[in-house]
Amino acid sequence: MRIIIAGYGNVGRSLHRMLEERRKELLRELSLDAMVVAVVDRGGAAVHWRGIPYGKLAEAKDRHGTVARAERHGRPGVGVLEVLEEVGADVYVDTTLPNFEDGQPSISYMERALIRGMHVVTSNKAPLALAMPALLEIAGYKGVKLLYSGTVGGGTPFLSLASRSLRGNRIRAVRGVLNGTANYVLYRMEVSGVSLGEALEEARRLGYAEADPSLDVGGMDAAAKLVILTNHATGSRYTLRDVRYSGIEGVGPRELSDAAGRGRALRLIADSGELRVGLDEIDVRSPLNVPANLNAVEFDVEELGSVYLIGRGAGGPETAAAILRDMAELSS
Ligand SMILES: NC(=O)c1ccc[n+]([C@@H]2O[C@H](COP(=O)([O-])OP(=O)(O)OC[C@H]3O[C@@H](n4cnc5c(N)ncnc54)[C@H](OP(=O)(O)O)[C@@H]3O)[C@@H](O)[C@H]2O)c1
Repeated sequence: MRIIIAGYGNVGRSLHRMLEERRKELLRELSLDAMVVAVVDRGGAAVHWRGIPYGKLAEAKDRHGTVARAERHGRPGVGVLEVLEEVGADVYVDTTLPNFEDGQPSISYMERALIRGMHVVTSNKAPLALAMPALLEIAGYKGVKLLYSGTVGGGTPFLSLASRSLRGNRIRAVRGVLNGTANYVLYRMEVSGVSLGEALEEARRLGYAEADPSLDVGGMDAAAKLVILTNHATGSRYTLRDVRYSGIEGVGPRELSDAAGRGRALRLIADSGELRVGLDEIDVRSPLNVPANLNAVEFDVEELGSVYLIGRGAGGPETAAAILRDMAELSS
């Protein structure tokens, strides 16, 4: 499997390292013979048809800030579209940054890859949140797959619980905590009485927050995940424009301790029934009242009632592990 990776930050880099470190195991256990033939960041590309070693790219990135300065393989100024045209590959992996205005340039990258007959695996949620129905249609038309396990829940398999473990059951709705940073901020304000700004700074220091934390705090990130999870679990075809969302701004330790006094907790809840993300008061004993940066989803299943899954929602290696699961699916 020949792979092009766009984005060489936390996720892209972790993925490249894992593919190399676990090469033998992936081949033996999953028949996944993975070779990274191109990597692209904002400085340009590194390309080699026989595969690029992780150490070489990591060194170029650390030393020069871009993979395009890698010895022999570096191609400064060469972008994703050129690489997709010039480099033969089976899979395009998008780990670039989300743009929730119009999903670009990633929507164009994914469309180009699909049209050229490549499978697409993404951890970038913006293109899916804004254009999931159209992208799935192109993939279906071209007979390739569009997989996105890393977009919701980092490594925790919320999406595959819906599509695999609950296959054959009818999922009526999904509801839950889909943004670990917002949850961490609420939790810290609740248990330690710190301000929203202080809690957010802690989250940033711990590496939980998105590059642009207003996406976490303002509810947009959770809204994007709600679109992806709802479409995946229920077969609907929503986009971000269909979701009403608000965030956790304006809440302080006072509101959280008042709620606690009533046996309630304030959580940023995404709900597919109302297609809404917003602050909700939930019972302190609810499984959705998770601590720290955890995510939690309740699947309302016709045959089973409520099924819950709780786990860590983000992290570079965790998200790279989700991308690996998608690759394993492609090779099976
Ligand atoms: N980290 C997580 O826990 C997590 C979890 C789930 C989903 N995600 C999503 O996964 C994606 C990657 O996250 P991350 O944490 O790895 O971000 P990151 O560390 O900021 O890395 C982003 C990478 O994308 C590159 N990039 C941006 N625009 C590009 C373009 N037009 N062409 C080529 N490369 C481009 C950047 O290049 P430069 O290095 O040159 O700046 C950088 O290497 C994001 O969409 C994020 O929302 C992340």
